[in-house]
Amino acid sequence: QFLRGITFYYTDIIKNKHVSIFDTTLRDGEQTPGVALTLDHKIEIATQLDKLGVDVIEAGFPRSSRGDMQSVKAICDLGLDLDVCGLSRVIIDDVDACLDCDVDMVHAFVPTSDIQRIHTIGKSREEVLKITETAVSHIKDHGVKCMFSAMDATRTDFDFLIEVFKVAQDAGCDIVNVPDTVGVMVPTTMSKLISDISKHISIPIDVHCHNDFGLAVANSITAVEAGASQVQVTVNALGERAGNADIAETVMSLQAIYGATTNINTEYLLETAKLVERYSGVAISPTMPIVGENAFAHESGIHTHGVLKKSDTFEPGIMTPEMVGQIRRIVVGKHAGKHAILDALNNAGMEPTDEQLNEIVTRIKDIADKGKRVTDADMFAIAESCMGRLAKKERAIDVLEVTVMTGNVITPTAVVKAVVDGKLTKTVATTGVGPVDAALSAVGELIGDKIRLTDFKIAAISGGADALAEVVVSVEDKNKRIITASSAREDIVMASVEALVNAVNRLNSID
Ligand code: KIV
Ligand code: ZN
Repeated sequence: QFLRGITFYYTDIIKNKHVSIFDTTLRDGEQTPGVALTLDHKIEIATQLDKLGVDVIEAGFPRSSRGDMQSVKAICDLGLDLDVCGLSRVIIDDVDACLDCDVDMVHAFVPTSDIQRIHTIGKSREEVLKITETAVSHIKDHGVKCMFSAMDATRTDFDFLIEVFKVAQDAGCDIVNVPDTVGVMVPTTMSKLISDISKHISIPIDVHCHNDFGLAVANSITAVEAGASQVQVTVNALGERAGNADIAETVMSLQAIYGATTNINTEYLLETAKLVERYSGVAISPTMPIVGENAFAHESGIHTHGVLKKSDTFEPGIMTPEMVGQIRRIVVGKHAGKHAILDALNNAGMEPTDEQLNEIVTRIKDIADKGKRVTDADMFAIAESCMGRLAKKERAIDVLEVTVMTGNVITPTAVVKAVVDGKLTKTVATTGVGPVDAALSAVGELIGDKIRLTDFKIAAISGGADALAEVVVSVEDKNKRIITASSAREDIVMASVEALVNAVNRLNSID
């Protein structure tokens, strides 16, 4: 089959089906061990979810704490386009706490599996039916939408599950939720359960899948195939234990693979994930689908070569980085070929000569062989420093050797040997306040007083003690002409010497 110009094993079973997205980042997501969001952060996340196009957010559990009550109220007061939902047990005081916040929807839940019913609330099945009926009727009497959840539905006796859903439906409930509370479903069983429920229930069905076996997204999309019309998700798959179905993975699977529709503005998926990462303190793994740093990064020579020619070769094609607010990264690691490096540089408007390209490739491979990741930024800095260098014959100074000695028992000293003006080989030794200062003074002495250093800046490009150091220097000649040049190397002294030499040679060449 064929979708958006790509041939793949495609099913049109839910093509064009509209799926509503219910986000519970601020409720189940906040139940992630170690996550506690401030009121301001919750407001910002709710606003971002509105921009993203989520249909409903579960803003909190008002009766559970004063903080939740305050934040659900504050989010309701924002007047967002999305519906704001509050969580409630099937207890009147819980429902009233939600109503006091002015929510658009109350999500009432009760444990229905024997294991949870007996050991958590200690009520009989009849009592569960009764309190469900009372709570749902109370919600509907107040004119707000009602979602009813049979908690632990996937471990609940099927006949009782249908009985409790029917009670909720008859009491006016708008949508029933099927929580896979401890994540024990697989797509086959989820498909059967949802299609069986839909034979008995006429109101819409929603699913809430936990990720204990890593199947939350698979189970959610299978539930949609089987008849569910709403899925519950969280940003970055936050949630109790192993979390919930991830919003980006669920939405993009539904849209890109099945051709279903949602109201999500997918280009904000990455922005939303980053915001929640910052406020929750839970880092996004680089290999996380869609929003992870590596989701659209290519490193091996074969892959980068293919992707640079046509991105669909080693990407799904039905999902591009732009669709989700990502960028494609070519990681210039030890697997990257000369071709990929040249293409990446050409794309950035840089046209190295063969000599320069060979040096750029050698330097990148040297760094990568030491086990370091070379990012695009590193590659461009290396290229700039190699390309800033003039051909050998045009150089005013060509450094052959640099030696530095430093420590707490000697004055930092540098010995630099260089060919000056293409003929004379000179060696000078100088001291300085540190190894960089000593090395730069030595180069200064070789150049003489016709050029002086006016600015020197140093920065680490990537993190870590073995980061690449980028040095940017400016030099001025007697005619007050100023030139800036840079270099990037792991060795800070070598980067400084090279940047200064690059600048001097360039200034000299414009005589
Ligand atoms: O996992 C669960 O069952 C829940 C309910 C409150 C729906 O989070
Ligand atoms: Zn849950």
